[in-house]
Amino acid sequence: MSRKNQTLGEFIIENQQAFKYSSGELSRLINSIRLAAKVVNHEVNKAGLVDILGAAGDTNIQGEDQQKLDVYANKKFIQTLTKRNIVCGIASEEEDDFIAINSQDENHGNKYIVLIDPLDGSSNIDVNVSVGTIFSIYRRVTPVGTAVTIEDFLQKGSQQVAAGYIVYGTSTMIVYTTGHGVNGFTLNPAIGTFYLSHPNMEFPADGKIYSVNEGNYIHFPQGIKSYIKYCQMEEGDRPYTSRYIGSLVSDFHRNMIKGGIYIYPKSSKNYEGKLRLLYECNPMAFIAEQAKGKASDGFNRIMDIEPTELHQRVPFICGSRNMVDKAEEFMRNARTLNS
Ligand code: AHG
Ligand code: MN
Ligand code: MN
Repeated sequence: MSRKNQTLGEFIIENQQAFKYSSGELSRLINSIRLAAKVVNHEVNKAGLVDILGAAGDTNIQGEDQQKLDVYANKKFIQTLTKRNIVCGIASEEEDDFIAINSQDENHGNKYIVLIDPLDGSSNIDVNVSVGTIFSIYRRVTPVGTAVTIEDFLQKGSQQVAAGYIVYGTSTMIVYTTGHGVNGFTLNPAIGTFYLSHPNMEFPADGKIYSVNEGNYIHFPQGIKSYIKYCQMEEGDRPYTSRYIGSLVSDFHRNMIKGGIYIYPKSSKNYEGKLRLLYECNPMAFIAEQAKGKASDGFNRIMDIEPTELHQRVPFICGSRNMVDKAEEFMRNARTLNS
């Protein structure tokens, strides 16, 4: 049951029974992400005051070192999840290795692990443009009560239990799925409460927006070059409109509402692609599929890729179903021509 204007807290409690293994643990986990999101939101909102309040590397009035926002966000999410004793492991884009929690305590019964991109679109911070946070939640595969291992983190995206993002935009929103559709909650900053503002979000099957960093055009594979030319062609409902913010979260969020496709292909500069499978592509793919959209590496479903390392990168094509189908068709055709 969901009603517009319901708070996120109420929504989590009322929907708890819908979870497969309903022990309340996942609800507590999403609750702590909500809490960390509010803290990070507060800091992100002050970013423009950095010259007044102190830049990264300075010491603030309490004698604490000022930190870059991506480092700050990383610390806040890890701290919140660790201190509340809610997860058994965390992996973050900002950390070289995964973090095992309570690994010395045989009695700890936590089942979930979290993978996180604490601040997505970090190059936009200094210019007052929307940034985000992306999170992905799995059940551990090793026995409860033991220390987590790399195996717990290298699971296919299809094993995700929940995934979501926070967009720090003109309003701050949390959008997430637990495998029962996608819901979006908007923060009322005056009272610090998220309200259900976008129930059952869905990608339109078709769209008119394409989002890609065209500055890299000459380095793209032929299939992507041809698809971009197709988007620009005068025919039917084309040419499409080009929109590229440079924060995956914000580009994805707009495309989900309006209909569109986001593309970060591999190129002769980034041979594997740029985006990270575990922190960015899998969670966004889970949300996309739950919202009737699609996510692919050009040939295969993102969530079927078997991860081999924590910081693995993959090409990413994601958005309205018919648009992603079309881009894949161009990729297949170019491969046939080259072989
Ligand atoms: P992050 O800030 O977490 O490193 O991610 C940035 C990502 C993604 O959000 C964005 O769409 C893309 O990198 C932008 O890359 P380009 O500047 O190469 O277009
Ligand atoms: Mn990112
Ligand atoms: Mn990041």
